[in-house]
Amino acid sequence: MDALDLLLNRRSIAKLSQPAPEGQVLENIIRAGLRAPDHAGLTPWRFVISQGEGLSKLADILVSAAQAERSEESVVEKLRNAPFRAPMVITVIAKVTPHEKVPALEQYLSAGCAVQAMQMAAVAQGFQGFWRSGKWMFHQNVHSAFGLEGDDEIIGFLYLGTPGCTPMKVPERDLSKFVEYM
Ligand SMILES: Cc1cc2nc3c(=O)[nH]c(=O)nc-3n(C[C@H](O)[C@H](O)[C@H](O)COP(=O)(O)O)c2cc1C
Repeated sequence: MDALDLLLNRRSIAKLSQPAPEGQVLENIIRAGLRAPDHAGLTPWRFVISQGEGLSKLADILVSAAQAERSEESVVEKLRNAPFRAPMVITVIAKVTPHEKVPALEQYLSAGCAVQAMQMAAVAQGFQGFWRSGKWMFHQNVHSAFGLEGDDEIIGFLYLGTPGCTPMKVPERDLSKFVEYM
């Protein structure tokens, strides 16, 4: 797939089924993440891959956070099923190194770029993805379960799999509403 075509026409797909990317394709996805812009070479990225039993473990982590907050059973039930919306979920963590010139924000942005790069690498190889978040990724229990320290944050959950439908049309956007010259 042409790089510009991918950049201009990429869509996310929420309906994802088996198989998940594996082998060289998965390695390419991770390597694309590792090419995110990175001020001062701090490599502020951790990628935790869940598949099969790993999806159950991810669900358990989210459910236990919701239960710790005495959430309604409907919320707990939703979280119990959430990770199974794709055959693979990559939890992307910004591993923040205190640095005089590189504030935590820049390191979060770098990890966000990694998510986008990985999603695009998936699409370029015939797979698809959907970047998800939710308030539970900020919960202390979830942070502890993933071993976050200091200013580390979970940047998102990248759901990956085989597209279960054709992508929606790219929305028309009027450039003049977004672009200014000074
Ligand atoms: C940081 C971040 C978190 C997101 N979290 C969610 C989410 O939890 N649920 C959701 O439906 N979409 C979420 N999205 C948006 C989708 O990933 C997707 O971009 C959106 O549905 C638009 O589709 P498109 O990428 O095809 O334009 C998130 C996007 C970003 C950048």
